[in-house]
Amino acid sequence: MKKRIGLITSGGDAPGMNACVRAVVRTAAQNDVEIIGFIRGYEGVLDKDFVVMKNENVAQIIQRGGTILKTARCKRFYEAEHRAKAAENLRELGVDSLIAIGGDGTFTGAVLLQKEHGFKVVGVPGTIDNDLFGTDFTIGYDTAINTVVEAVDKIRDTAFSHDRIFVVEVMGRDAGFIALRSGIAVGAEAILVPETKTDIDRVLKRLEGRRKSKQSAIIIVAEGDEFGGAEDVAKAVMKKYVDREVKVTKLGHIQRGGNPSAMDRVLAGFLGVGAVEAVLEEVSGVMIGMQHKKIVRIPLEKAIKHHQDVDDNLLRITEMLSV
Ligand code: F6P
Repeated sequence: MKKRIGLITSGGDAPGMNACVRAVVRTAAQNDVEIIGFIRGYEGVLDKDFVVMKNENVAQIIQRGGTILKTARCKRFYEAEHRAKAAENLRELGVDSLIAIGGDGTFTGAVLLQKEHGFKVVGVPGTIDNDLFGTDFTIGYDTAINTVVEAVDKIRDTAFSHDRIFVVEVMGRDAGFIALRSGIAVGAEAILVPETKTDIDRVLKRLEGRRKSKQSAIIIVAEGDEFGGAEDVAKAVMKKYVDREVKVTKLGHIQRGGNPSAMDRVLAGFLGVGAVEAVLEEVSGVMIGMQHKKIVRIPLEKAIKHHQDVDDNLLRITEMLSV
């Protein structure tokens, strides 16, 4: 029987996951290895719901958002007995290693599978949040930012025309990377992120300082900001500027969909090839990342425990430009 590698996409989907699935399947096929694609992440491993992936299964998917393997946040995988069942199912199918494309929840499950059952696991960072340590970018982040920029550019047109203040909420429960980078790209007047304490009075003062020259403003808020969501920020703004119209837009799940950007497709290709090569070299317990244009292998535990710090330069540039 051919060597078999299991493959899952798990957690929140991210544009570019399909491009990575394609890269994994094609690299494996060239090395005479079979890929068993489980449906809905760890759920598929537990239910033995899978497809033997051939080159034809991954034709015409490089440009598609979402994931053809589907995905889930698998609650059962939090329990040791289910992880034992997963290891048993994988071994019964002749699968001796698992490539998991996802974020920190996915990697936490993979680490436990390795620790508890000696199962070989390799992670690929796939999340729009870009919050994994050890890789410059995660698959899906670039596309999500471009989606935000396209949407906020449109909001900017109407904000300017009506002299309104818009508070736009973007994704990022624990991380402000989407807010920061897209905020810089749209020229936001303020960007609020979970990593730094939000001093709302200071934000309002800064708006006051520039009100005379510019009447409209865009405030970008990451959904996990500790001050609150877009509605809370809007309330604070309205209290201060009673004469102004303040509107709230939550971009929500449009940030997770759409065709992956060129950058995400290329990144997905590199990381997918890197993941299969790691498995073929019998390397386990690592995340395949990209640092300074080079493929790297980072211990999975490090990738999830050492939260990626928000880049000081991004914060500095934000402060400098949002006037
Ligand atoms: O982890 C990616 C992410 O999109 C976060 O930014 C967001 O907080 C979360 O997933 C939303 O998850 P769900 O789609 O399960 O509601």
